[in-house]
Amino acid sequence: MHLNSSVLRSLVGWKRAILPADTNRCLRNGSKVAEQENTICIYKNTRQTNINTTMPLMSRRRMLATSAAALGGISILQNMNVATSSDDIGDKTPHVNFSLDGKSALVTGAARGIGQAICAALAAAGADVMGLDICAVAAPNLTYPPATPEQLAQTGRMVEGAKRRWIPVNADIRDAKATKKAVDRAVKEFGKLDIVVANAGIQAYGTLANKSDEDWNNVIDINVKGTANTVRAALPHMLSRKYGRIVIISSGQGRHGFKNGSAYSTSKWGLIGLMKSVAWEVGKDGITVNCVEPGLVDTPLTRNPGRWRELIHTAGKEAPENPTEQEAIAASAPSSVMGIPWMQPGEVAPAVVFLCTDAANRVSGACLDAVAGESAKWTG
Ligand SMILES: NC(=O)c1ccc[n+]([C@@H]2O[C@H](COP(=O)([O-])OP(=O)(O)OC[C@H]3O[C@@H](n4cnc5c(N)ncnc54)[C@H](O)[C@@H]3O)[C@@H](O)[C@H]2O)c1
Repeated sequence: MHLNSSVLRSLVGWKRAILPADTNRCLRNGSKVAEQENTICIYKNTRQTNINTTMPLMSRRRMLATSAAALGGISILQNMNVATSSDDIGDKTPHVNFSLDGKSALVTGAARGIGQAICAALAAAGADVMGLDICAVAAPNLTYPPATPEQLAQTGRMVEGAKRRWIPVNADIRDAKATKKAVDRAVKEFGKLDIVVANAGIQAYGTLANKSDEDWNNVIDINVKGTANTVRAALPHMLSRKYGRIVIISSGQGRHGFKNGSAYSTSKWGLIGLMKSVAWEVGKDGITVNCVEPGLVDTPLTRNPGRWRELIHTAGKEAPENPTEQEAIAASAPSSVMGIPWMQPGEVAPAVVFLCTDAANRVSGACLDAVAGESAKWTG
């Protein structure tokens, strides 16, 4: 809603109304007017008053009532309780609601690892959860075993153990129709869908020069296209409700280059671009979009000799063909900021929960590095 000229004129008692359409950003009487689509900012004597044009009905009513009073000679700024002369400005109400009671969520890659921990944490915070997983070989040549239907059922037991509703879905996020169907089912059975955590992903190593087309395509298809499919499936519903929380699981390896990991790093870096672009597109529709970047986390994706070899390489050492876990820890722990070889999935999940709560209402377009301090080593 845009304010009309008489309301605005009465609001500030100025000779000339400042309108969104009237883009004559002006300097007058020591005051400056800046304009955004939803917010008109009136700077007066260096203090700033924001009049949000999408404010709730009661506030709008109050504003119209008080603007009428202003026409009658009463100071509108006084009536609106807008600070103009006091130093005590800004709403100090503590927005510390970390509960997800009454919310519903879709989590992909829910059968195990970080996705399983996210499902359990969302449920512990109060949300009903739909957990989607392929529960089968996602791509050939991975150095770790596939997730199973039994693992997805275990996630369900964790959610139901928190007394929350659980819906399991067996699907591949590369299939856009399947992700859409999952969202439609969540909306139907939960009544709405508040939260989407796009977590499913794979990791494969190899130099760019030697990587097969198939290996490259699988990583990009699942991690980028599959994640975009998930977000795209949920957006129409969230846009219609003017509410949504989207969290994309990127990686610390999307924040810096990684030797022998170009496909994975490209895909996870790309997700940050996806997140920031969508956050901008839907920012005025009550939807926040953020990334969480886990560091090295103890899951099947990392707890395998192929990943340990890369860990030893990253530490600048020669790796045996089949290193042991102890060799990987010995090589990497000394350079770890917090002195731990890897984090636990349950230590990453709270960062995701936070971004889904009302406490994070004004966090969007952001990267939250849950990397056990490794972000101390990089900028940006
Ligand atoms: N483990 C880590 O150290 C680490 C670090 C940074 C980021 N990540 C990211 O976190 C996410 C979860 O990783 P994880 O370590 O729990 O791995 P994981 O292999 O234990 O779990 C990934 C889950 O995603 C599912 N999945 C894979 N492809 C799918 C597809 N096409 N459709 C539906 N489901 C699919 C798998 O079946 C599996 O259950 C991934 O995106 C990963 O890239 C992991």
